[in-house]
Amino acid sequence: MVAKGREPAISLDFVREKNLMQLKKLNIALFPVRYNDKYYSDALAAGEFTKLAYFSDICVGAIACRLEKKEAGSLRVYIMTLGVLAPYRGLGIGTKLLNHVLDFSSKQNISEIYLHVQINNDDAIDFYKKFGFEITETIQNYYANITPPDCHVLTKFVNQSPTKK
Ligand SMILES: CC(C)(COP(=O)(O)OP(=O)(O)OC[C@H]1O[C@@H](n2cnc3c(N)ncnc32)[C@H](O)[C@@H]1OP(=O)(O)O)[C@@H](O)C(=O)NCCC(=O)NCCS
Repeated sequence: MVAKGREPAISLDFVREKNLMQLKKLNIALFPVRYNDKYYSDALAAGEFTKLAYFSDICVGAIACRLEKKEAGSLRVYIMTLGVLAPYRGLGIGTKLLNHVLDFSSKQNISEIYLHVQINNDDAIDFYKKFGFEITETIQNYYANITPPDCHVLTKFVNQSPTKK
């Protein structure tokens, strides 16, 4: 566990071919799911919506999004993954990553942000609810290889209100 105290040096960097391996290593450490090439090409294509988080100069977390076109020409953001390595949790890094995406979304033509979360992941569900996400759907048997296989869809409808700091 990293000691709280002095404000840690947390910085965000965008993902490009050169540091894509950092995101791959994080995902292996954080998630029981193996992500395919499409995940990584979508993450790269999302530009500012995909970020690595550094604690000092160690890569400890990431948010990876996919941009989706909606009928009326607006965009919605799908958060494919958000994760922080366990020893670095509770330091504000997840908040910084999510706030970055929320702030950036409010400046773009984004109508909603959504994600899937396993129904037993209470920490993550509570975390997202603090930022105004709500459960909009529950899907049975969404995951093929993990138990429980069911997920919630969490959605935040974007307006111009300020984000949690
Ligand atoms: C959800 C997650 C990204 C939060 O990251 P984090 O860096 O710990 O988040 P923060 O430090 O910004 O904490 C934000 C809040 O979440 C709470 N929290 C959630 N999980 C926590 C944990 N394991 N340790 C400490 N605090 C946690 C804190 O109480 C904090 O509340 P506060 O701001 O009122 O103090 C992180 O727990 C994680 O990586 N989980 C595993 C991967 C996952 O399930 N991702 C979501 C599905 S894609």
